[in-house]
Amino acid sequence: MLSLVVLISGGGSNLRALLEASQDAEFPARVVAVGADRPADGLIHAEEYGVPTFSVAMSNFADRDAWADELLTQVLAWNPDLVVLSGFMKLLPPTFVAALAPNLINTHPAYLPEFPGAHAVRDAIEAGVAETGASVIVVDNGVDSGPIISQERVPVKPGDTEATLHERIKPVERRLVIQAVLDIANSHITLKDI
Ligand code: GAR
Repeated sequence: MLSLVVLISGGGSNLRALLEASQDAEFPARVVAVGADRPADGLIHAEEYGVPTFSVAMSNFADRDAWADELLTQVLAWNPDLVVLSGFMKLLPPTFVAALAPNLINTHPAYLPEFPGAHAVRDAIEAGVAETGASVIVVDNGVDSGPIISQERVPVKPGDTEATLHERIKPVERRLVIQAVLDIANSHITLKDI
């Protein structure tokens, strides 16, 4: 059984999908804890499923490295096999990445390497593209630049706003991240070889 720590910053709809998947006795992974960098709304999903939570706010630390060291300590306390960044919007320093790599993955609402960064959906709308997508990647030290585990195209429709397009992308992200966790747990994917 693969143990997961999921890190979020926002509403946690992708987290909720992982929690729901974990309810199935056949699913080979369990969310053991959920962390956030703020009192994120999505922590409520973990509470609903009886999964412990932690929150480490950067504002309580002298700098990014000190914050990330404490976040790492909290993550490692759960001894996870895999850490999933699921809408976690802070950049993590190399020490954090190195401590977990390659068992650190990220979901992203674009077809990487197109539209990396924190505003991928808005950037796709502004670029006027006909399609964007969703990706699941291994985290490296760049911004959404790590090896791609899986990705899928999503159409941009006339009249789409950032919100409507994001709502079309998220179900694809959920499917991709659940499949990635399944494939990792079943050794169909070996992260260090991607
Ligand atoms: C998701 O679309 C995720 O890919 C994105 O934030 C959203 C979180 O939604 N992450 C990034 O943009 C990271 N660069 P959720 O909180 O409802 O799961």
